[in-house]
Amino acid sequence: MKRIAVLTSGGDCSGMNATVRAVVRAGLASGLDVIGIQKGYQGLIDRLYESMTTRSVSNVLQRGGTFLQSARCKEMRTDAGLHLACENLKGMGVDGLIVIGGDGSLRGGYAIHQQGIPVIGIPASIDNDIAYTDFSLGVDTALNNIVRAVDNLKDTASSHDRAFVVETMGRNCGYLAVASAVAAGAEYSLIPEQPYDLDIICEDLRRRYREGRSNSIIMVAEGAGKAEDIANQIKDRIGFETRVTVLGHYQRGGSPSVFDRLIGARFGQAAVEALLNGKGGEMVGLDGTEITLTSLEKVTTAGIRPINPMLLDLASELSV
Ligand code: F6P
Repeated sequence: MKRIAVLTSGGDCSGMNATVRAVVRAGLASGLDVIGIQKGYQGLIDRLYESMTTRSVSNVLQRGGTFLQSARCKEMRTDAGLHLACENLKGMGVDGLIVIGGDGSLRGGYAIHQQGIPVIGIPASIDNDIAYTDFSLGVDTALNNIVRAVDNLKDTASSHDRAFVVETMGRNCGYLAVASAVAAGAEYSLIPEQPYDLDIICEDLRRRYREGRSNSIIMVAEGAGKAEDIANQIKDRIGFETRVTVLGHYQRGGSPSVFDRLIGARFGQAAVEALLNGKGGEMVGLDGTEITLTSLEKVTTAGIRPINPMLLDLASELSV
């Protein structure tokens, strides 16, 4: 193994820069050439790349987003796109590729690996929907962003006896909504994984209003419904006046938390080490405090990572 490449793909998240920095510095320290591919798989197809030096990754650790830039690349899902990506990697003399991204990006990495180029995946998605890792990169920073927003909303909500319906990201996975409900003390989290009954929720919110509570917060994962629709359905039924906040892409940005910087550093270093040890077709992950390697085949066929039932119980038990 003489030359490796790294790319960030799909939706960006905080901690990607810290991870690229770890890949570059661990790679260089082991005597490898490291190439940074810009704009994810699109850049691989369009041959957008640069040679990385230690200085290329100076002063990026604390920045959100990805300085390599990212893209959702439809072409990569076609045979022609995959073929071109592999040909370009060979043309660049790349012996191993590190892909930092979510589910679709890991699938792309697995497809490249099946063409004979060793690939190590690093899970990165604020949704925390990737199987075989307790945490993906970016989740912790997104949660901190959400909790900060909900804390602020609670201030204004309680000044006016209002309920806020707060929409988080999470197309298929409600982890952000549930974990932020626990961390910020929201009354409800509506998630795609669990059915909910708005009549029961309204009855409970009315009870809280009668008991003199000054506010209520209902977290909604985007995959469980639109906050605006839910607010319209509960409006005039709960006592509290209702307002809506859609957090949107605000959740994805900002300086990475210490946790994301640390797992970024560990994931990046472990991915380089895996390539040096002759591994490929695997994803690094976190199991408790240990770094793991799981085959990309398993990861990409496992479906959405289930939310720990203990967290679901905790959210409902603490929101009395
Ligand atoms: O997959 C991560 C994610 O942030 C989802 O939570 C969200 O639905 C989606 O990306 C948004 O994608 P885009 O940035 O392409 O609008």
